[in-house]
Amino acid sequence: MADGDMTRARLDPGHVPPDIDTTVPSVARVYDAILGGKDNFAVDRVVAEAAMRAMSDGGNGARLNRAALGRAVRFMAGRGVTQFLDLGSGLPTVQNTHEIAQGVNPGARVVYVDNDPSVSAHGQGLLTGDDSTVVVQADVRSPGELLALPAIAGFLDFSQPIGLILNAVIHHLNDDEDPHGIVARYQEALAPGSYLQLTHFCDESPEARANSEVLTRSLGRGQVRSRAEIASFFDGLSLVPPGLVFLPWWRPVGPVDSPPPPGSMLMLAGVGKKG
Ligand SMILES: C[S@@+](CC[C@H](N)C(=O)[O-])C[C@H]1O[C@@H](n2cnc3c(N)ncnc32)[C@H](O)[C@@H]1O
Repeated sequence: MADGDMTRARLDPGHVPPDIDTTVPSVARVYDAILGGKDNFAVDRVVAEAAMRAMSDGGNGARLNRAALGRAVRFMAGRGVTQFLDLGSGLPTVQNTHEIAQGVNPGARVVYVDNDPSVSAHGQGLLTGDDSTVVVQADVRSPGELLALPAIAGFLDFSQPIGLILNAVIHHLNDDEDPHGIVARYQEALAPGSYLQLTHFCDESPEARANSEVLTRSLGRGQVRSRAEIASFFDGLSLVPPGLVFLPWWRPVGPVDSPPPPGSMLMLAGVGKKG
């Protein structure tokens, strides 16, 4: 991230906020470690290394996932979307949603939501002086409560189109938590003209299945799903071409390498439009 000095100060072992537990790995910090970030601890790096071994991709799948997110945000902003709700947004890194959205539509409003306290700690520092972007600590699994939070309901206009982003977060919800019901609840709250963007580990890849085992063992959760299960998150929406495809093939800016780079077949990506 651009302000690495601020980040290091906040995650210096001597300056860790009290609500951040450095003895237990967190999804957000493990992902940051896979991306090569600095906002993580030894306990996170152990899981990151195990996950990268399982995926045999050297962390490339995470980079492809970020790139697919960037293309989707640019796509939605290019279709006139000026409000974004980025759920399970993760730690700030390069090419964050607000930077891309505001690069296209300078007035775009972006809400980042994550349940990891590290994310809000870093986000608040990063966004000082930016009135168009907020970071909220909340749990995606409680859509009713989340959508009613003043920082969200009072900041975004739900009568107008919103780009709802669920990039690599729903595979951290287990089936008994009703992920499809949760995503449907968010969709219901959106006005016509809104978009849902989602990436998700797909069980067609042995590497994704192996990574899921690492996540479940290390973090207590994580679930790969079938193409049909992932497609049904878009029920009621029109999938934007090219539909639900592996990360590099979602509206690439140029030809995809042949053979595709490592990590290409881990996650499916899609964007659906409401109304
Ligand atoms: C793999 S990271 C993805 C980050 C970002 N969306 C991206 O794709 O680059 C998953 C993020 O989802 C967050 N997350 C997981 N479960 C969550 C929940 N129940 N509520 C809110 N955030 C959650 C984690 O803390 C983590 O930051």
